[in-house]
Amino acid sequence: MSLLIIGGTGTLGRQIVLQALTKGYKVRCLVRNFRKANFLKEWGVELVYGDLTKPETIPPCLKGITAIIDASTSRPDELDSLKSVDWEGKLYLIEAAKRAKIERFIFFSIQNIEQLSKIPLPKVKYIIEQKIINSTLPYTIFRLTGFYQNLIGQYAIPILENLPIWVTDENMYIAYMDTQDIANFCLRALQLPKTINQLILLDGLKFWASSEVIKLCEQLAGQSAQVQRIPSILLTITTKIFGFFEWGQNISDRLAFTQIMLNDTNSIQKFQSKLNTKEPSEILTNETYEIFKIESADIIQLEDYFLEYFIRLLKRLRDINFEDVQKQRNLIL
Ligand SMILES: NC(=O)c1ccc[n+]([C@@H]2O[C@H](COP(=O)([O-])OP(=O)(O)OC[C@H]3O[C@@H](n4cnc5c(N)ncnc54)[C@H](OP(=O)(O)O)[C@@H]3O)[C@@H](O)[C@H]2O)c1
Repeated sequence: MSLLIIGGTGTLGRQIVLQALTKGYKVRCLVRNFRKANFLKEWGVELVYGDLTKPETIPPCLKGITAIIDASTSRPDELDSLKSVDWEGKLYLIEAAKRAKIERFIFFSIQNIEQLSKIPLPKVKYIIEQKIINSTLPYTIFRLTGFYQNLIGQYAIPILENLPIWVTDENMYIAYMDTQDIANFCLRALQLPKTINQLILLDGLKFWASSEVIKLCEQLAGQSAQVQRIPSILLTITTKIFGFFEWGQNISDRLAFTQIMLNDTNSIQKFQSKLNTKEPSEILTNETYEIFKIESADIIQLEDYFLEYFIRLLKRLRDINFEDVQKQRNLIL
């Protein structure tokens, strides 16, 4: 089976590429910048030039491809990219995949998407989900939770650098996952006919409030966090102000995301309590793990992920310090 991975330079995409190569798949990546993607070539990937905003570049990338794994999404710092990448780009890609008679199309969406329909990215993702479902393509859609990898920039680094962490005055629970585990689910899907034409809810095994994530980072860093609380009302006003200006729309979308997720705290808590009372939601989550034959022991825990991060970081700091001492010694001698 030959794979085309889109978004191979991204947080999730690179894990999928790495695991696909380890499993012996022939991997091609559609990339828009060869220099940036050079590390993928070094891993043994075939790089082809493509850009979702340039429809003519897509069909040549699909020649000889059996399955597409699309882990691409707009970069928040690229103006207008939500429309050109997540909307128009995906429509071009679906059409090209249909014409190329692709045997499996894997797409990544977002959880709670129905409740997030006022925010552009989830709204667009929802419509794209529908386009894929109504196409003739054999598909698997994963609705994902937040990634562990994003928590480093959000919590660990500000704590280490004594910078403030902005949290709201309400608590939200998220069952984060490591992208390595998501990549594992994704590649197993290719071997499981049961996952064809399925929309799969993928959650981690434990729900975390931001205060719990902060506490964990504080313990591992041996430092206290400077937590700044923003009242939800201030978030609402700021969202509206940023939304008024075109340049601020990315910021506005992100703030709105936080707000809607906060407003949804109750339903998340209800969902959590359903998990504890063995109502259908639990069956859904358990079913996913059962179908994929992935045990809870196989899943990377957030505590272990952070521990490894902090150990690696401390080792690096020690090495840098050692190099500095060596340099100074050489200068003296
Ligand atoms: N991050 C989360 O917590 C989260 C949560 C739920 C769902 N998801 C979904 O999971 C998927 C992966 O997310 P991620 O955070 O790993 O993404 P990411 O790190 O932001 O990476 C985005 C990827 O898309 C590529 N890309 C952007 N514009 C492109 C274009 N015009 N043509 C071709 N490729 C383009 C980027 O390439 P360059 O390197 O060239 O920019 C990069 O490889 C996305 O579908 C995302 O919506 C993410």
